[in-house]
Amino acid sequence: MLVLSGIMVMAVSGLIFIGCTKEGPQGPAGANGTNGKDANATCTLCHNFGDTVIVKIFQYDASKHASASTIIEAARSGCSGCHSHEGFLEKLQTGSSVTQAYNDAAPINCRTCHTIHSTYTPADWALRNVEPVHPYIDSTSSIDLTVTIPGGTDGTSNLCGKCHQARKNTPWITNPKGTDSLAVTSTRWGPHHGPQFLMLAGKGAFEMGSSACGTSNHKGNATCRNCHMGPAQGESVGGHTLTMSSAETGDNVAACRPCHSSIGATFDLNGRQTEIAGLYQTLKVKLAQKNVLDTINNVLKGPISATKPKKFTQIQLSVYWNYCMVDADRSMGVHNYVYTRDMLNAGIAYMNSLP
Ligand code: HEC
Ligand code: HEC
Ligand code: HEC
Ligand code: HEC
Ligand code: HEC
Ligand code: HEC
Repeated sequence: MLVLSGIMVMAVSGLIFIGCTKEGPQGPAGANGTNGKDANATCTLCHNFGDTVIVKIFQYDASKHASASTIIEAARSGCSGCHSHEGFLEKLQTGSSVTQAYNDAAPINCRTCHTIHSTYTPADWALRNVEPVHPYIDSTSSIDLTVTIPGGTDGTSNLCGKCHQARKNTPWITNPKGTDSLAVTSTRWGPHHGPQFLMLAGKGAFEMGSSACGTSNHKGNATCRNCHMGPAQGESVGGHTLTMSSAETGDNVAACRPCHSSIGATFDLNGRQTEIAGLYQTLKVKLAQKNVLDTINNVLKGPISATKPKKFTQIQLSVYWNYCMVDADRSMGVHNYVYTRDMLNAGIAYMNSLP
């Protein structure tokens, strides 16, 4: 990124040169701005000697998004829609969760989320897509987590949620309380890694308890950015690192303070993370005791393969799915305390009812 400003000066002069060829030969490009072209003026609203953009670039480079690991899966169709820039744009265009494989793909970058270089003005900082999310697990439904803020709305959660959601699986649960069996062909059956948007929304769990899961209302008050892009400390937490905590800084509770003024040094507000971690551990043990969970690999207990499917009742798979949701969510109840608590308790109650 340090080379950017150098490339920039060349590119800016290049652009002006191309822009001028119609009018005849052009002399050597002058220093930034001395050719007096309008395009240059709007370019420099972002590309200038100020630090705003540079700060964001360095923070973002430290994020997991910008890491090579994110992009590996771009070369697989069906994965690229969330693991690459190109796949994401394809998904937005087609509205389909089925995306092509991309080699030489770009990682999720500035222009995945912003409309960079579309008008070449600061209006290009606009977020690319904040439309409601049609979740993969039920694409006919629509979830809108836009929050009203002073002077407008914040649709960040809908942007992030287009990727941070569960995936659909085969076989699919049709009756969460069903005691009939489904034949599963992979130990990796489950919601996949990033169901955070669904958790925030209070959606995506299979409800098999005696009463429906309740929900906390972070979704009506905070978007992903309020917490994940809170006050930054270097390239460790906050801002465009999207990171919540680090070894150097601990938990970035500065992000919570505007709303929870008395929060301590950790995210464990009211002991809720401790409580959820306890319920999670209890359910984990019970699932393992009943041969549903392989605790070493944290997958369904095998042997399971395409040629050797294993049968689980729908209700058992529902409990397992919800366990995976909490596991993959990784906020231990912060995204949605009540929803997380209720789905874990319902699972524990069911497991306790087994002989
Ligand atoms: C809204 C702010 C904004 C404006 C206006 C803008 N750019 Fe950019 N530009 C960016 C961002 C953000 C990047 C990507 C930086 C990164 O990925 O590290 C970028 C990257 C670049 C690059 C590096 C190569 C690339 O495409 O990533 C060039 C060259 C460039 N811009 C030229 C221009 C020119 C020429 C103009 C005016 C015609 C312009 N930019 C206007 C924000 C802007
Ligand atoms: C184009 C899809 C996409 C979008 C949009 C997206 N993410 Fe991600 N995000 C990913 C993927 C894929 C990873 C996994 C990276 C890895 O582990 O290699 C990830 C990782 C992360 C991580 C790091 C998790 C870890 O393991 O530490 C955080 C935090 C995060 N995203 C937050 C956000 C927020 C907040 C937004 C919205 C401002 C957002 N993401 C938008 C796809 C996306
Ligand atoms: C609906 C969007 C979506 C799709 C489709 C998707 N992923 Fe992901 N994936 C994510 C998100 C979001 C994360 C990061 C979640 C987190 O860190 O909490 C992630 C994380 C990962 C990770 C990193 C886990 C880790 O421990 O860091 C791997 C590996 C992965 N995905 C593989 C795949 C593969 C393989 C496919 C295709 C078969 C795929 N993903 C399809 C959204 C998706
Ligand atoms: C995962 C999505 C995501 C990525 C990738 C991303 N941003 Fe952002 N960015 C946001 C969100 C969300 C906001 C805050 C919402 C807003 O202000 O519209 C924001 C705000 C900004 C702002 C402030 C805009 C304003 O109107 O004041 C700048 C500048 C910015 N980003 C630069 C960058 C640069 C440079 C990159 C690439 C290095 C980048 N962003 C990558 C999501 C992203
Ligand atoms: C109310 C604050 C809050 C909101 C809103 C929020 N998060 Fe989180 N998120 C957290 C906390 C706290 C953690 C746990 C961090 C830890 O313990 O290190 C977390 C964990 C995560 C993780 C796991 C990786 C990590 O950083 O630990 C991802 C990925 C993530 N959130 C994505 C999202 C997305 C996407 C959204 C919006 C759909 C969102 N979050 C909304 C607070 C929030
Ligand atoms: C924009 C405001 C806002 C931000 C930022 C915010 N919260 Fe909240 N939080 C709320 C509101 C409002 C509630 C109550 C929701 C309800 O009534 O269901 C809440 C509830 C909670 C709860 C459930 C409390 C309980 O005992 O039921 C926890 C835990 C929590 N927040 C943790 C956090 C953490 C940790 C952060 C920072 C990472 C954070 N919140 C950031 C507004 C916010």
